[in-house]
Amino acid sequence: MSQKSSKPLRKAVLPVAGLGTRFLPATKAMAKEMLPVVDKPLIQYAIEEARAAGIEQFCMVTGRGKTALVEHFDIAFELEATLRERNRHEALAVLEATRVEPGSMVTVRQQVPLGLGHAIWCARAFIGDDPFAILLPDDLVLSEQSCLGQLADAYRETGGNVVAVTEVPREHTNRYGILDIGLDDGRLVEVKGLVEKPAPEDAPSNLSIIGRYVLMPEVIGHLARMERGAGNEVQLTDGMAKLIGQQPFHGVRYEGKRFDCGDKIGFLEAQIAFALKRPEMAEAVRAFLKTYTDA
Ligand code: UTP
Repeated sequence: MSQKSSKPLRKAVLPVAGLGTRFLPATKAMAKEMLPVVDKPLIQYAIEEARAAGIEQFCMVTGRGKTALVEHFDIAFELEATLRERNRHEALAVLEATRVEPGSMVTVRQQVPLGLGHAIWCARAFIGDDPFAILLPDDLVLSEQSCLGQLADAYRETGGNVVAVTEVPREHTNRYGILDIGLDDGRLVEVKGLVEKPAPEDAPSNLSIIGRYVLMPEVIGHLARMERGAGNEVQLTDGMAKLIGQQPFHGVRYEGKRFDCGDKIGFLEAQIAFALKRPEMAEAVRAFLKTYTDA
């Protein structure tokens, strides 16, 4: 029957090579993943979430014009020296969180954005024979326990592939990867099938995958066939679907609220939700929101 893995989860792949067309012109010369929610870029939220889940090694799949993403996790030598000279200790402390262990972050290049599945395949040498997490930085999750941490727990329980899932309105199934489900205990859902962006009338459920995954390395062999799926792209969902029946495969209804920051409305909502979580800002934000909603 299906093979279980007991290898520890230490690696994460962060695909950041997309074109970000929905945020043009902001993303003409700047990576979408550098857009800030309040004061922190999306990529930093993703790295912090991964660290909280025990991830120690990171691979960003980048493309042209994405160097700021790499710079962000380097030491800003001149800036730090100037801040130290001026005794700006608070600002220095903020920068501390952008440091990663030397040698723990690598990048690989996806020269042409042929799809998410192709982006993950580009990280094959980094992945090797190990289980790995994927975080799409434009999905932001506000939760008590890190969303990836919840998946890591489920991976340890099930020993197989795990994806974060949430219910979406049926009329939106054509925007997401959708599950065909088997046994369902309310939190863990057995995955019987996966379809990328099905029309509402063809969707097997309204349970959608969000941008958090724990996958077994065997998915790379399926992606390597470069079969084109929805939108003529190499779809990760199609590669994952080939693992069903071979290995355990579950969805996790995670605790938390997800914001689709690749979409303008989702991005704006995230700004408000995250600002309201900041004690020093919440009151002012609530007050100005009232002036708009009362109008
Ligand atoms: P999206 O579907 O949001 O595409 O990709 P996009 O290009 O970033 O944005 P739009 O739709 O043009 O506005 C989801 C994630 O997959 C990555 C993106 O960087 C994003 O993190 N991706 C997508 C790649 O790395 N390579 C690809 O070929 C496609």
